[in-house]
Amino acid sequence: MTCDRLVDRVVIVTGAASGIGRATAARLASEGAKVVASDIAADALAESVVEANAAAKESGHGGEAIAVVSDISKEADAAATVGQAIDSFAKLDAIANIAGMLRSGRTHTFGLDEWNRIISVNLTGTFLMCREALPHLMESKGSIVNSASTSSTFGHPWMGAYAASKGAIWSFTQTLAVEYCKVPVRANCIAPGSVHSGITSNVEFPPDLTEKEGKLVRRIMSPTGFGNPADVASVVAMLLSDDARHITGECIRIDGGTHA
Ligand SMILES: NC(=O)c1ccc[n+]([C@@H]2O[C@H](COP(=O)([O-])OP(=O)(O)OC[C@H]3O[C@@H](n4cnc5c(N)ncnc54)[C@H](O)[C@@H]3O)[C@@H](O)[C@H]2O)c1
Repeated sequence: MTCDRLVDRVVIVTGAASGIGRATAARLASEGAKVVASDIAADALAESVVEANAAAKESGHGGEAIAVVSDISKEADAAATVGQAIDSFAKLDAIANIAGMLRSGRTHTFGLDEWNRIISVNLTGTFLMCREALPHLMESKGSIVNSASTSSTFGHPWMGAYAASKGAIWSFTQTLAVEYCKVPVRANCIAPGSVHSGITSNVEFPPDLTEKEGKLVRRIMSPTGFGNPADVASVVAMLLSDDARHITGECIRIDGGTHA
């Protein structure tokens, strides 16, 4: 039996076309949420929405999902995504900022264009979505979940831009939690370790790693094993529900104990 903690809640999920975002859209819809699933990848997003609507139908809690194609790093797209949520469902209760990207490489040869793109998607995109959503979340006394990473909690070699963006997302989220706690709007982070997804299947380490450096790969590619996107989606659902009504400014690691 599935939970029904999110019946009639309107939730935006970014990055919903793949991995953790896709699983989150399905999980929230199965718990009764009206999900505005957004992503830059239109075809895969359409598949996610079919999956989320099937999950909603199966659970019978009245959830549903719609698609909004959007690049979170663009101001106009962020505003349009929130606008679509309001046009479709007349309110906004929560946002799960899951979209993100990873490029790896040695820091002393890392390109400025790649650095800027990662910061602009992961960090600026998260800011833009929060900024556009907040006026509506203040009305609904809603909730935010942002995506940090274990790379924001301990050193991940060859991922300087990604780790910096995730560390900044965590700092930004703590700021939101305190700035809006009197409304209240809650703001929390998830920090996954290694999870099967597009990001982890496409990650490339420098091809010329020495044997000693190769041992560092184990540090970041979960020595305790990979999780599944659903393992993260269930935590997002909990954080957005009233079960987490007294939790804000928190970052929850979902890493199978890698860092325990
Ligand atoms: N998979 C892991 O091991 C892991 C670990 C820690 C953190 N995370 C974080 O989890 C989140 C989800 O990643 P995932 O692992 O599911 O990877 P994924 O690649 O499967 O999904 C990321 C999604 O974000 C979308 N996206 C990328 N740029 C975008 C943009 N500019 N606008 C809108 N959408 C965009 C992609 O199209 C994709 O659908 C990311 O923020 C990632 O950094 C993942």
